[in-house]
Parts: sequence; structure tokens; C-alpha cells
Amino acid sequence: MKSLETLLKQTVFSDEEIVYLLGLKDEQDCRALQKAAYDRTTELMGSNVYYRGLIEVSNVCTSDCRYCGIRKDNHSVPRFEMTKEEIVGCAKFAADHGYGSICLQAGERNDPKFIEFIADALRAIHAETISEQLPNGVGITLSLGDQTKEVYEYWADCSGNRDNLRYLARFETSNHELFNFLHHTPKKKNKHLEHRLQCLQWLRECGYQVGTGVMIGIPGQTLHDLCADIRLFQKIDADMIGMGPYLMSEGADLKEIGQMEAKQLIRLTLNMIAVTRLVLGNINIAAATALQVLDPEGREKGIEHGANVIMPNLTPLCYRGDYQLYDKKPNLTDDPSFFAAGLQQRIESRGRTVGFNQSGSSRKWLMR
Ligand code: 5AD
Repeated sequence: MKSLETLLKQTVFSDEEIVYLLGLKDEQDCRALQKAAYDRTTELMGSNVYYRGLIEVSNVCTSDCRYCGIRKDNHSVPRFEMTKEEIVGCAKFAADHGYGSICLQAGERNDPKFIEFIADALRAIHAETISEQLPNGVGITLSLGDQTKEVYEYWADCSGNRDNLRYLARFETSNHELFNFLHHTPKKKNKHLEHRLQCLQWLRECGYQVGTGVMIGIPGQTLHDLCADIRLFQKIDADMIGMGPYLMSEGADLKEIGQMEAKQLIRLTLNMIAVTRLVLGNINIAAATALQVLDPEGREKGIEHGANVIMPNLTPLCYRGDYQLYDKKPNLTDDPSFFAAGLQQRIESRGRTVGFNQSGSSRKWLMR
């Protein structure tokens, strides 16, 4: 094996090298990996971190992903749906505070009423966020699960801004066996990895900037699995990656597998972000909220390890408690304005600037 110093200068890596980097534990080695990823980010993406204001539109879900706190069979969580006016209000808050874009996320639903509801919300957001700073309205990321190609196309039309339109659908893990274990219940084979990959392909064909990602540190997941995840990011030719640690959830159906010990889990997650930056290059990488559960500065550490997108939560406080995909979700009571001010300062303390009023598309996308 080459020296770490030599390895970190490379832009092409073998599987063996990726597995080695993911498994680094020694503090000094990890710091070298961190620095290489941070510097590569500056070189390829500049110093900006972009905000995507997260709006958790509804926790009604027809899927039963076993790890998730809002899965359909968790009957202890009250279900909510934001109104169109509330959603537009959050989008305007984002636009008025210089966030170049928002992300609409919800439990998965395929019924016509929901599809039309999102379509209406998209039209209204576009119409009401056009301004001098944002001549095409606020940029939009959708994170609304598996849909048909027709629905993806329809929503893209309604967004009114195809130049700044993204979709986020993690494939969760590239290991089929693990994927099936996480998604299949005795009642139903809820999800199929091949279908998720088909959805990502349709999204590409409909012109979305394609975002995907995985959960890191799922008990039973190996470093080779994570390396295969990175290879699949490459195959998908992703524009954006959002990934975070696997965390236990009270409302989930997976207590038996437990959760990795926090210190190891955050290490592995940060290594995965850094290695993804080194291997994938000029893509956007989000510092997931789940990182903050393990460490109050988890997201800032994500930024230090090569992430360049952050998703401040704009969901009205009255709904936040009912949108807990995992336990101990942070910022349940933080007012968005207060939170944004602190966040900017924390980002700047890491040598980055906030890309206010900018779409924040990845260089990879811009060069397509
Ligand atoms: N731990 C970590 N991430 C989770 N997600 C859902 N449940 C959990 C959990 N228990 C993530 C999934 C999904 C995204 C919306 O939230 O990766 O794609």
C-alpha cells in the first residue's frame, strides 16, 4: 500500500484504497484525510456552503421502511399535512432570508390527491418567490420518494424552474441483502433496490439534478459495502449526495440490531463524506442533520470533511415533533430566524462562506 500522503493526492482510487481510507481510525491519519477532502472541496467547488431550507410537508406515509420513525405501521405518531399556505409561507421565508433554494420532503404517497397537492404547491412557490434577487424564484429540491416517470415530469413542469430543480432519493445501501432486510416486513416486500435505481434514472431523463445517498454504519454493513455505495454513486453519476449515520428510532421496527457506538459512528460517517468527496470530485455533498444527533457540531464537522450543502429546518415548530425519522432529532424547538444567524457564524468559523441568493448547483451539473 502507498503512503497515506501519496494516496490523498490521487483522484482515482482502487477499491482497496477506498476501503483503507474509510477505515482510518488514528487521529492524525483522520485529520490528514479531513484536510485533503476540505482542500479538494475548496479547489473544485469554492468556499461557499449553500442552504436548502427543509420543509417537512407531511408525515403521512404509505411505505413501511423498517428503520424509519414515520413508517406506515407506526400508529403512535399523529399524522399531519401542512397546508399550501403554510408551505408557501416557509418558501417565502427562505427566499426572503437569502436561501437560494428549499427542499420539500414528505412521507411517500402516490395517490392523485397528493400528487396534485404538490403540483399546486410548486406552482404557488414559483409564483410567490420571484424577486430581484431570485428572478426564477427559489430553487427547489423534491424528496418525495418513488414515483412514476409521468409524475416526475409533471412536477418538473409545475416547478417553473428546471434550471434549479433537484430530486433527492437515497438508495440507502447498495447491498441487496441488507436493502431487503431494511425494507421487507412479513406483510410486504416494501421496496426494491432496482426500482429505486430506475426512479433515479427517470429523474435524470426528466432533467432533474439527481441526488442520492445512503445510511452509514447500519449494523451488518461493512467497509466493502460502503465502497460499493461509492461505486454506485459513480455509476449513477450523481450530482448530489446526502448521507448520514444510521440511528435507532423508537417508532421503527429494528430495535434488535442496535446502533453503532456514537464515537465510531461519527468517525465512519465523516470518513465516508471525505472519501466520497475525493472519489466523486465536483458534486454537492450535504451535511445531514442526523450528524448533529451524534455531536452538537456534527454538521460543521461534515463541512470540514468536504460537505458544501446544509439543510436548515424551516418546518413550523408545531409539526416538527411528529417528523422524527430517528430518535433525538435536533432543533425541535429552534426558531428558524434565530437558528439561521447562529448557523452562518458556525459555518464561517470553519473558513466557509454562505452562498446567499445563489442556486448552488454542483459544478458537475453546470458542466453537463
Ligand atoms: N436513521 C438515519 N437515517 C434515517 N432515515 C430514515 N430513517 C433513518 C434512521 N433511523 C433517512 C433515510 C431516508 C431519509 C429521508 O432519512 O436515509 O432516505
